[in-house]
Amino acid sequence: MRVLVIGGTGNISRGIVRALRENGDEVVIFHRGQHCDPAPPDVRVVLGDRRERSDFEEKCRSVHADAAIDMISFTEEDAASALRAFAGRIQHFIHCSTVMTYGPPVDCLFADENHPLHAQSSYGQNKIKADALLMRACADNGFPVTIIRPSYTFGPGMMLHRMIGDDGPWIDRIRKGKPILSAGDGTSLFQFLASQDAGRVFAGVLGKARCIGQIYNMAHPQPITWDDWHRIAMVAVGREVEIVHAPQEMLLCIDGRYAGLPHNFGHQQVFSAAKLQRDLPEWQPEVSWEEGVRWNIEWMERHRLITNSDEDDLEDRIIAHLKALPERVRQGEIA
Ligand SMILES: NC(=O)c1ccc[n+]([C@@H]2O[C@H](COP(=O)([O-])OP(=O)(O)OC[C@H]3O[C@@H](n4cnc5c(N)ncnc54)[C@H](OP(=O)(O)O)[C@@H]3O)[C@@H](O)[C@H]2O)c1
Repeated sequence: MRVLVIGGTGNISRGIVRALRENGDEVVIFHRGQHCDPAPPDVRVVLGDRRERSDFEEKCRSVHADAAIDMISFTEEDAASALRAFAGRIQHFIHCSTVMTYGPPVDCLFADENHPLHAQSSYGQNKIKADALLMRACADNGFPVTIIRPSYTFGPGMMLHRMIGDDGPWIDRIRKGKPILSAGDGTSLFQFLASQDAGRVFAGVLGKARCIGQIYNMAHPQPITWDDWHRIAMVAVGREVEIVHAPQEMLLCIDGRYAGLPHNFGHQQVFSAAKLQRDLPEWQPEVSWEEGVRWNIEWMERHRLITNSDEDDLEDRIIAHLKALPERVRQGEIA
């Protein structure tokens, strides 16, 4: 199959390109050519900006693809443009959505695709509208769409996130043996899928008739705690450091760098991948968390994205105050 990937050099999309090529598909990628990583040398590249609607649609049509995977569709307008480019011309269209269509907060463990859509963010709300437009086109006109809703997907192409945000210095802190901050008590569950494994989901679903007209959550089937995740990074770095827990509300009051917490990682979120595993039984994650994290750190290193933790002492000061607090209260210093 000739497959047009919109994106192609990003975090998930590079995993998709790799998996498609392993499957023997011919891959063409459409992007602006601005990403810090170049396209693989033997992949055909069509340059353009998808927000330039008519140019994008014209160029997509000129590829004569059998299938397309859209990784950078964020709004109803993006989805409408994809419909103009591909309706009646391709056998399968995969649209990348997000689990942030469900929330956060999400009110149960292992939320499946029938969970009500309660997106709080404009990102999630716009994805809901894009998903709905494509599903209507499928129901009304047979547009052959599959929607994938990824949970957190990590790997080269993106910063390795920790729970509290401020992702530049945390690997450097571990390397230097400094404690790291986390929010809550560290037992909150989350899912972490390596981008190589995510790529195999998109490539695996492609061309499967039973997947057309379906929506799938894409999440690592095994949730782990944030403390587990931070310790996996320590294993990858080869040094163990203390995790110091702080109330999330306190961090929010201290500095804007922690402001992302209530919008995503500050909530326990666990999604069911059962429907995906039912329809794609040959898929299961193959990359270990340690291996995936190591690759992610190598990528950050290569692009000089690991910042020097000595240049900012806020985290040290918060940790010092947290540790001193019980004794200060006991001594009556804080009434
Ligand atoms: N990673 C996660 O945890 C996660 C979770 C849920 C959902 N998602 C979804 O996954 C998708 C992101 O996939 P990804 O991680 O592969 O993407 P990414 O890392 O953001 O990469 C974006 C790719 O698209 C290209 N691109 C960006 N803007 C463009 C534009 N205006 N026109 C043409 N090309 C453009 C980039 O190349 P150029 O810059 O050179 O154009 C690059 O190839 C999004 O739909 C997101 O909502 C991700």
